[in-house]
Amino acid sequence: MELKEAILTRRTARKFLPKAISEETLLEILEAGTWAPSHGNNQPWEFILIGDETRSKLAKMYQEYMEAGPLKNPDLPEERKQAARNFAMNFGDAPVLLAVASAPAETDLNKYDFPMATAAAIQNIFLLAWEKQIAGVWLSYGMNPKAEKLLEIPEGGRISGILALGYPEFVPPVQPRIAADDKLRRLP
Ligand SMILES: Cc1cc2nc3c(=O)[nH]c(=O)nc-3n(C[C@H](O)[C@H](O)[C@H](O)COP(=O)(O)O)c2cc1C
Repeated sequence: MELKEAILTRRTARKFLPKAISEETLLEILEAGTWAPSHGNNQPWEFILIGDETRSKLAKMYQEYMEAGPLKNPDLPEERKQAARNFAMNFGDAPVLLAVASAPAETDLNKYDFPMATAAAIQNIFLLAWEKQIAGVWLSYGMNPKAEKLLEIPEGGRISGILALGYPEFVPPVQPRIAADDKLRRLP
């Protein structure tokens, strides 16, 4: 798959087939993450593969978080609420659940650039995964003390995303984008 095709066709998926991702494929995808750029090549990311025991605790926390916040939104259609509840039960039955965290940062610069480099690693992961017909969802859940404790994030570290990955059972339709030209501001 050409890079541009991967970039343009990659979609978020939230429901997965009961098909495992081989250890070899998973490591290859994570390896792509390590080729993201980082300040001075400091490689601040850590990949945390979440096993069954931790996963069920995390699912419970995630459900509580969703019920207490996003699912209280009266503007969210009931159908979307139900889909979100189904997903939260077990992360769409994704065969792989992965947290990607940035290392503890002490300087202001590192507080700023560690999470950014880690986000770049996540995008690399999604793009190579897509080439292998693997999709997933990047959850922004995780920046709270309970999740950080469960995932053993050291003081000062940050979860950049929790990734549910697998072979998709269903890929939602494309989400439209605003043209780059409309996001472009030119300075003299
Ligand atoms: C930083 C970040 C956080 C996200 N958080 C969530 C999330 O918490 N729950 C979710 O269902 N999708 C989440 N997504 C996925 C977006 O909803 C999705 O990327 C967006 O709707 C565009 O769709 P596409 O990825 O299929 O192009 C997140 C994506 C990013 C990059």
